[in-house]
Amino acid sequence: MFVRERELPRGRGLARKAAVALAGLWVALALAGCSGPHPQSTFRPVSHYASTLNALFANTFWWTMLVLAVVWGVLLIVIIRFRERPGAEPPRHVHGNTTMEILWTIGPALIVAFIAVPTVRTIFQTQSAAPRDALVVEVIGHQWWWEFRYPQYGGIATANEVHLIQGRPVDFVMHSADVVHSFWLPRLGGKRDVNPQPETVGNTAKRVNHIVLTPDSIGVYPGQCAEYCGTEHAVMRVRGVVQTAADFNAWLQAYNTPPAPPAGSVAAQGKQVFETHMCLACHTIQGTSARGVIGPNLTLVGGRQTIGAGALPTSEASFQRWITHPQGVKPGVLMPGIQEGAAGMPPTGLTGAQVQQIAAYLGSLRIPAGQPGANPVAGGTPAAATMAPPAPAVPGAGLPAAATSHDSMKSPTTSGKP
Ligand code: CUA
Repeated sequence: MFVRERELPRGRGLARKAAVALAGLWVALALAGCSGPHPQSTFRPVSHYASTLNALFANTFWWTMLVLAVVWGVLLIVIIRFRERPGAEPPRHVHGNTTMEILWTIGPALIVAFIAVPTVRTIFQTQSAAPRDALVVEVIGHQWWWEFRYPQYGGIATANEVHLIQGRPVDFVMHSADVVHSFWLPRLGGKRDVNPQPETVGNTAKRVNHIVLTPDSIGVYPGQCAEYCGTEHAVMRVRGVVQTAADFNAWLQAYNTPPAPPAGSVAAQGKQVFETHMCLACHTIQGTSARGVIGPNLTLVGGRQTIGAGALPTSEASFQRWITHPQGVKPGVLMPGIQEGAAGMPPTGLTGAQVQQIAAYLGSLRIPAGQPGANPVAGGTPAAATMAPPAPAVPGAGLPAAATSHDSMKSPTTSGKP
């Protein structure tokens, strides 16, 4: 008896230390999830739509936390107060308690109401029709990239970066060209499936989904396809570029009149190669003879933060790597390389010099950083791959087949390995 009384506290002390250590470990692990930038966090909304969803989540979260606290609290009290003690009498049997039964019926019913009413209200808010002045953006999912068309602006199309206007409602009109994808820009709000085979029956568009939201902060906000759609589902990323109305207009203007490379420059040679080889079968560049619609529209592609729907940061080296051997960057991609075909198309057979010329041309298709219409840097992810101004063309400079020094736009994160 004497020994037990001396040992008991020590054992309890050890157990307590172990419990504290475990709790500390648990808190450390839980907090580790809070580190780092969160470019795709729904907890940092940048539209009224996303704020509404976030508020609904917070409401539901705190009600469930209250339920958790009450249930665990009562459970702990019962475990400690009514535990079995040596010599204690068996507990009295209870057959029903009307007051308690009324309380634990009304309580949960009220909590369900407190959650259900805001939920239904939010569903109606986020499903409401677009206002008349909304910017209409047609969203088309492709394996594995995003197409955006602007029917109010001459039907121009862009890819993987959707330009939006701060403070102006946008009506995303969404469908898919092949399989089901899901369009998701977490900080702007979403996510919603894009379905194949849209059709109009009477006045109703079937299988076309909408998201209507109003971006409220300038920035570049990343997102991604959120429905498994094949090999490269993970590299079907998207960026929402929210600009002022003036910047959006500047972007539109640059889009309709993309910069022409100076005559005789490497980029000008690239333009010519682009327009006389297979590229134009699939791609469009505004203001050129390239009018293909199978692949992404490449107008102002040099100003996008990434190429291949998030496969590589934009740089001349990335373009070279991509054009040379796209399967090495994004296996399964429906684009042929210089030596390998894809999606029924033969290899492009481009030479190393031609690849460099095209890369220089594509890199030149952009609004210089800081100029009206260029992607904003503040607010969203830093434009890690924003390119420096192109190197001035050297008239008459020959182009060796191997990598040249014409790589002023090389991003530090790119190896440049073809
Ligand atoms: Cu498209 Cu997943």
